[in-house]
Amino acid sequence: MYNPLELSLKYVRYLLRASNGRGHGIHSPFVFDFVTSVLNDRSWLHTFDRIEGYRKELLADRRVIRVEDFGAGSAFGDRTEKRICDIARRAAKSPKLGRLLYRISSYYRCRKVLELGTSLGISTAYLAAPPSVEKVITLEGAKAVASRARVGLASLELDKVRVLEGNFDDTLAIALGQMPSPDLVFVDGNHREEPTIRYFRQCLETAGDDSIFIFDDIHWSRDMESAWEQIKLHPEVRCTIDLFFVGIVLFRKSFLEKQHFVIRY
Ligand SMILES: C[S@@+](CC[C@H](N)C(=O)[O-])C[C@H]1O[C@@H](n2cnc3c(N)ncnc32)[C@H](O)[C@@H]1O
Repeated sequence: MYNPLELSLKYVRYLLRASNGRGHGIHSPFVFDFVTSVLNDRSWLHTFDRIEGYRKELLADRRVIRVEDFGAGSAFGDRTEKRICDIARRAAKSPKLGRLLYRISSYYRCRKVLELGTSLGISTAYLAAPPSVEKVITLEGAKAVASRARVGLASLELDKVRVLEGNFDDTLAIALGQMPSPDLVFVDGNHREEPTIRYFRQCLETAGDDSIFIFDDIHWSRDMESAWEQIKLHPEVRCTIDLFFVGIVLFRKSFLEKQHFVIRY
């Protein structure tokens, strides 16, 4: 993991390189539409308030639960007992990123969504909330965390979500067996190079032309930057969009040439 100074420098470099986020100079019609209709959509929905209400509930929950450590990405070091409020504060995606996940899932009318890394279910709720979504499978290794997520997702009446417990190394194949060819895959756990590439390849085996993959924390460490570069180079990848905190990967054959965009968000 990069230290805070290294990460800040990377962020500044990203801001200097990135397109301005209004779509100027973006010649791909698909990406221009993505910027204007998805990235810059500021509409507010009641469902966002409900999910943020759930986040508030978690942030006030001082109960301690046992958390098994899986892979990289834990901001807690080796501690195995954590307060729910601390997990919510450190692991959950921000409201801004959550709304982006909702809009991607909704705008591209995703029906089947797969998530690696449920934690307490905040990003899961954003991904699952659009009416187009019929089924979500989300994977979580830490048992007590998965249980709390189930309770929260039920309170949000998101019964289309199934939380699958266990190591991604075992559960990803099960999930893809139960829900082949997901429309949207969000990878937000085990931020290391080798597993990230392995999960990418595994998901790619059943991906369709319209599938959208989103990888979290692509600039978080040297390892993750290397994984992101390898994903960009993969022959089946036709377009990538780097938003710094997440990277979006598209496979549409209608992109005649491979293109990589860095866009301010
Ligand atoms: C950053 S958190 C996910 C945050 C969540 N997506 C959100 O925004 O609310 C990553 C989660 O992935 C889980 N995880 C990491 N590596 C895993 C693995 N190899 N198998 C199962 N779960 C894993 C961790 O236990 C943790 O809860």
